[in-house]
Amino acid sequence: MKSYKIAILAGDGIGPEITAEAVKILKVVEARNAVQFELLYTPFGASAYFECGHPYPDASKAITDAADAILKGPIGLNHEDSKKIPVDLQPERGALLPMRARYNTYANIRPVSLPNGLAHFSPLKPEIIGDGIDIIIMRELVGGLYFGNKELGRDANGKRYVRETLEYTEDQIRQILKAAFDVSMRRKKRLHNIHKSNVLKSSVLWNEILEEVAPEYPEVEVIPMLVDAAATHLCLNPGQFDVMVMENMFGDILSDQGGGILGSLGLMPSACLGPEKAYYEPSHGSAPDIAGKNMANPYSMIGSVAMMLEYSFGMLAESRNVWDAMQGVFNDGYSTPDLSRGNTQVKLISTQDFGDRVAEKLQAMPKA
Ligand code: IPM
Ligand code: MG
Repeated sequence: MKSYKIAILAGDGIGPEITAEAVKILKVVEARNAVQFELLYTPFGASAYFECGHPYPDASKAITDAADAILKGPIGLNHEDSKKIPVDLQPERGALLPMRARYNTYANIRPVSLPNGLAHFSPLKPEIIGDGIDIIIMRELVGGLYFGNKELGRDANGKRYVRETLEYTEDQIRQILKAAFDVSMRRKKRLHNIHKSNVLKSSVLWNEILEEVAPEYPEVEVIPMLVDAAATHLCLNPGQFDVMVMENMFGDILSDQGGGILGSLGLMPSACLGPEKAYYEPSHGSAPDIAGKNMANPYSMIGSVAMMLEYSFGMLAESRNVWDAMQGVFNDGYSTPDLSRGNTQVKLISTQDFGDRVAEKLQAMPKA
């Protein structure tokens, strides 16, 4: 029997409630397969700061170091509450980015996929959605503006200035491009390379490396597209995209737009893969306004479990089953209040009820 240690970082806001539903699904997976999960709960985020004085305490680092994979809930507070934490200890700067750097999780895979049963929920017109939306955004996650030197200062006239650098080495660019080609090879073999080489030198180098890597993947069609144009095309014709690859900041913005064309960031799980370790997290925030109300949809957290099964544990069929189980619940006409638009056809259920129904569907599926 295979056995894996999973660090569970429930996070802030709606984090704990949607994490509980993801854990429910892990238990079902365990019961159906020759696999054991040892769950290691540990504090992370703003809650960890208030509990232990640091958003990513040493004890949590020891646990994530020891884990085979990490499941992380959303983190962060609302604008006002975040002022209660010193800037460098706010969970994004003090916990999330350090964890990305610690495990060099350079390949961020963000599926933008519209469940059939939720087609009515997308703000796009049916004729634009066509056969559906099924895109993978590959975002470089440990370079660029996020991790470059930052300097705040005053010039000779006493005026404040800021300087932030966008840095990439060729190896960093090559590794994310290769990861994107590899994902393309398992899909439609169509890769959109998103850049801004008409302005940014970083994109010029990015494209140069792409030219070097592409011959290793002769079957993959590469389509270059400027990032601003890509933003428009995502709204006008999302069906043209299969895999899109881009640097860190572009990926942050376009992946949120991905959530926008689906109708909610609540539909955005993700995988963050490094050479030795991966962590899995929703791409959205901690939604403090609906926290504790048992109304947030756990899709992004359960989807993150599905991605963990695929990318960390090689359980491809079971991963597919988890996705299908979630689709099934939407297809049965159920949704949570955050993923509905006052549509009277939709039967509204709670976070827990959604998780229970996914678990039930999964239990009923044939084993691999
Ligand atoms: C994301 C988030 C993070 C990012 C924040 C929370 C720092 O927006 O994962 O997309 O900007 O990378
Ligand atoms: Mg973001």
